[in-house]
Amino acid sequence: MKEEIPVSKANRLVNHGPVILVTSQFKEKTNIITLAWQMPVSHKPMLIAISIAKSHFSHDMVKGSGEFAVNVPNVNLLSQVHYCGTTSGRDIDKFARSGLTTLPAQKINPPLIAECIGHIECRLQNMYPVGDHSVFVGEVLAASVEEGLFDGCWKLDEPRAKSLHHLGGNLYTTPDNILEAD
Ligand SMILES: Cc1cc2nc3c(=O)[nH]c(=O)nc-3n(C[C@H](O)[C@H](O)[C@H](O)COP(=O)(O)O)c2cc1C
Repeated sequence: MKEEIPVSKANRLVNHGPVILVTSQFKEKTNIITLAWQMPVSHKPMLIAISIAKSHFSHDMVKGSGEFAVNVPNVNLLSQVHYCGTTSGRDIDKFARSGLTTLPAQKINPPLIAECIGHIECRLQNMYPVGDHSVFVGEVLAASVEEGLFDGCWKLDEPRAKSLHHLGGNLYTTPDNILEAD
């Protein structure tokens, strides 16, 4: 079960730099792309930036539709995350092939990924060409989490809240501790 959280807390779903799965929908097609390069960039309005290579299918999907969803996978989705980051949706339906399933979004057309533990629904606010990538800045319209895993921050003591972080190639890591500063 998913519960809505305030848009003002959406940045906390990705503050710790997890790998994300971005869903997009354009011209009857739906796609999923794995991204490591993401960051919150504004509180008011709440804005999230993602960097997508110009050659990727998702680049044209997000550019064309003006919408995208950030989905936060947990460690249990390692193989699906790697699959969606090593195949192109130009040729295949990644939902069908990966076994990931759709969940309707509240405010945008692209579906969310039901198996993910966090979701941020974004409307494209701006896009910036940067080398061989484009940085897409999305305004957050809605955010939701898996019940019981978020209490203002991710409850990392819950095994299901453990995110994936990309080291490079096919290597990933997960966060271990919560440290409290004075
Ligand atoms: C862990 C991981 C992180 C990745 N991060 C990014 C990223 O931040 N930006 C990007 O453009 N591609 C990134 N990729 C590569 C794309 O996910 C990959 O090329 C994908 O097949 C493109 O799919 P598409 O053509 O369906 O859009 C990453 C791949 C992996 C496995």
